[in-house]
Amino acid sequence: MKKNIVVALTKGRILKESLPLLADAGVEPVEPIDTTRKLLLKTNHQDIKLAILRGADVPTYVRYGSADLGIVGRDILLEYGSEGFYEAADLGIASCRLMTAGIPNSSPHVGTVRVATKFVNITREHFARKGKQIELVKLYGALELAPLMNLADLIVDLVDTGDTLSANGLVPFEEILAISSRLIVNKASIRQNNSFLLKFIDSLAKLSE
Ligand code: PRP
Repeated sequence: MKKNIVVALTKGRILKESLPLLADAGVEPVEPIDTTRKLLLKTNHQDIKLAILRGADVPTYVRYGSADLGIVGRDILLEYGSEGFYEAADLGIASCRLMTAGIPNSSPHVGTVRVATKFVNITREHFARKGKQIELVKLYGALELAPLMNLADLIVDLVDTGDTLSANGLVPFEEILAISSRLIVNKASIRQNNSFLLKFIDSLAKLSE
């Protein structure tokens, strides 16, 4: 049986909100998570390690079994697919909304609306469902700049407090999806029937109920 259990965590806000949940389930990093440059951290459990990843990479590590568990946003699962692992629980943390946003009272779009986003698949499907033709512009961050610099008419981005939008003179228009973080589990890890792993999954799922 594989000895170590690896939990892949999404760095940023999800990581901050995952740590108290892991602590409640009895697992805490023993290395200074805020300051260390290490990406694979030891915990108070000899057999559990935490991997700190970009969200888009968490499903890949779990799918290939390099990580047994992952904590990742619903946005990532919908954008990049959720095949090859189980979704064990909605952890209810890092809640936010995926929204369209833009410049308030901007003049009506003539021709095809140009939409900038990191979430090209979700955005394409959303506008296709509405029967609206768009031109997609793929960006990797700082989406709020796109309408300000005339790169796009709209953005599709995550909105939590709304502070980033308002600081950049933008307003939210339409909610596309409600987002929260999910616990995902490698299929083979489940089949190993490691009672410690199963209990750990169960306690994380129960904590979020
Ligand atoms: C997200 C998102 C917005 C911001 C929204 O970015 O892309 O920019 O948070 O939060 P708010 O509504 O509370 O202002 P994040 O900080 O996660 O960084 P990212 O650009 O790397 O996604």
